[in-house]
Amino acid sequence: MNHDIRKIAILTSGGDSPGMNAAIRAVVRAAISEKISVIGIMHGYQGLIDKEFIPLYGSSVSGIIQRGGTFLKSSRSKEFRTSEGRAKAYQNLQDENIDALVVIGGDGTFHGAELLMNESGNYPVIGLPGTIDNDLFGTDLTIGYDTALNTVVHAVDKIRDTAGSHDIVFFVEVMGRDAGYIALNSGIAVGAENILVPEEITDVDALITKIEQDQRKKKTSGIIIVAEGDKIGAAEVARRVKEKMPNHEMRVTILGHIQRGGAPSCMDRVLASRLGYAAVHILKEGRWGVMVGVINGEISETPFAKAIKNEHSLDKGLLEMARKLSI
Ligand code: F6P
Repeated sequence: MNHDIRKIAILTSGGDSPGMNAAIRAVVRAAISEKISVIGIMHGYQGLIDKEFIPLYGSSVSGIIQRGGTFLKSSRSKEFRTSEGRAKAYQNLQDENIDALVVIGGDGTFHGAELLMNESGNYPVIGLPGTIDNDLFGTDLTIGYDTALNTVVHAVDKIRDTAGSHDIVFFVEVMGRDAGYIALNSGIAVGAENILVPEEITDVDALITKIEQDQRKKKTSGIIIVAEGDKIGAAEVARRVKEKMPNHEMRVTILGHIQRGGAPSCMDRVLASRLGYAAVHILKEGRWGVMVGVINGEISETPFAKAIKNEHSLDKGLLEMARKLSI
């Protein structure tokens, strides 16, 4: 049975990711084709509290599918973490006769969505996974992950040239506060000599043994990909390695926020379009409280609480493969 939804609002929250604009476009255009009007909320949950609302039409989302970032802007709102902030946000939705809210973001965004729903007597909220980290349960891919991987690969390929020319071992820090997906998959793609992820305790001695073995095999340069969330950290790992191998050149490169920007890849544009389109239809069919994802190529719906439970575990088999391929 169709749920009576005539007006929805949309916001992006947390760290921006390439493809968020494509997702907004898909939601707006899918809604319009279902005769649902759309309100854009600027600056994420903070804009919901401050009532930064703008009407969105089909033309408002023209020419944005290829643009990185989010034209609705984003924030990590402290006020929305309080029940008073959320009450204000809910009141604003009521005052504007908004029937449902679409949120695009990562685990913090869905945690906020879950609280808003629980405290408002089940107000309809639906989520799209927008984060470069790919750390959500209930989707094989998050919007922005593929683009971020490609950005890392292009950057590390360049670093590899310098590493090879000067016989340097580079420790390249990639994003992923709690998750090693970016590190693992970019590491495989660049043929990294080692990959350090937060899901494992880094064994610096084993790393040194591996670098020494590589040197004996005339691999005089190397790339060690270190996830931002590694418990020791790229700089400290490099320092400890250098201490034991003082005659070898080592450098640390932090790729940082270049990983969050740039034009979304084809994969991310398609994913964002599919998820945005599906979200509108799921709402119309009277379901919400879920993150819309894709599993084995099919659209999936996962309750917010489950999506953020951190059960999307890293494939240790892939890590082992990467290590065997880098001997
Ligand atoms: O969640 C996306 C992400 O880019 C993480 O990989 C990173 O740890 C974090 O955001 C950085 O956030 P900020 O830009 O707020 O420092």
